Amino acid sequence: MLQITRPRTIKTIVELRDIVRDWRRAGDLVALTPTMGGLHEGHLSLVRAARRRARRVIATIFVNPTQFSAGEDYETYPRDDVRDAELLAGAGCDLIYAPSVDEMYPEGFATTVSVASTTNGLCAAHRSGHFDGVTTVVCKLLNQANPDYAIFGEKDWQQLVTIRRMVRELDMPIRIASSPTVREADGLAMSSRNRYLSGAERPIAAKLNKALFASADHIAHGLPLDRVIAACSKALLSAGFDEIEYLEARDAHTLEPIDNYAIAGESRLFIAARIGKTRLIDNVAIERTGLTE
Ligand code: PAF
Repeated sequence: MLQITRPRTIKTIVELRDIVRDWRRAGDLVALTPTMGGLHEGHLSLVRAARRRARRVIATIFVNPTQFSAGEDYETYPRDDVRDAELLAGAGCDLIYAPSVDEMYPEGFATTVSVASTTNGLCAAHRSGHFDGVTTVVCKLLNQANPDYAIFGEKDWQQLVTIRRMVRELDMPIRIASSPTVREADGLAMSSRNRYLSGAERPIAAKLNKALFASADHIAHGLPLDRVIAACSKALLSAGFDEIEYLEARDAHTLEPIDNYAIAGESRLFIAARIGKTRLIDNVAIERTGLTE
């Protein structure tokens, strides 16, 4: 029978640096998958993507307080270290780094890493301070672990683009790789927060991705962006969503907004919507195959 050993969990920067130094001395490449725990298949796909790139894979589990805005779910965010460790073992993780809040933000901590431009609008407009919290913690995790690769999910596309920009502009010698969004059978993007959905809300939530894919297809086929967006928002509200925070097409790399009839280059359609107490986000490519510019 195949025996899967649980990866070792460490909690301090000193331990992390010692282990990574030994791996590097042995000539091993190292890949990092930052997570906040509450793991699901989406996270495990990041670990597998890391495994394909490097001999040594570290998963971080840290529910980062600074990326939660006031009134958000920091206190109730799913935490299950034992289950997470079992899942990570099965996905091929070598080491879990789960620092405490004090280890990451000692008394008097006063530094913020902030990326402008890619954090204009979309989630940033609705989650005050969120991206500063993300870039600060990811910068610290990358500096602490010093990996060759770090892997992020495409569901959080604005986060991915923002981290890429930070790494590039701060000259960090780390390759940022992305992994496609993993979806439930009905297409709902996997998220640790999906468990907040009630039984009645769950089938409604599945309509989000369907509406998003259909809208991206309409835009790709030349329908005016504003009309498609208005129709999609209306349909989702009638289906039972309480609020559409945003539904916008943006350049996939710069995240610049896109004019109504000027879809060019690689663009994506982004949505955040609320149903009950759950906030869902998703994004898809606007595939313009076969269309002339
Ligand atoms: O995507 C997440 O889970 C978090 O934002 C991250 C990248 C682990 C930083 O806390």
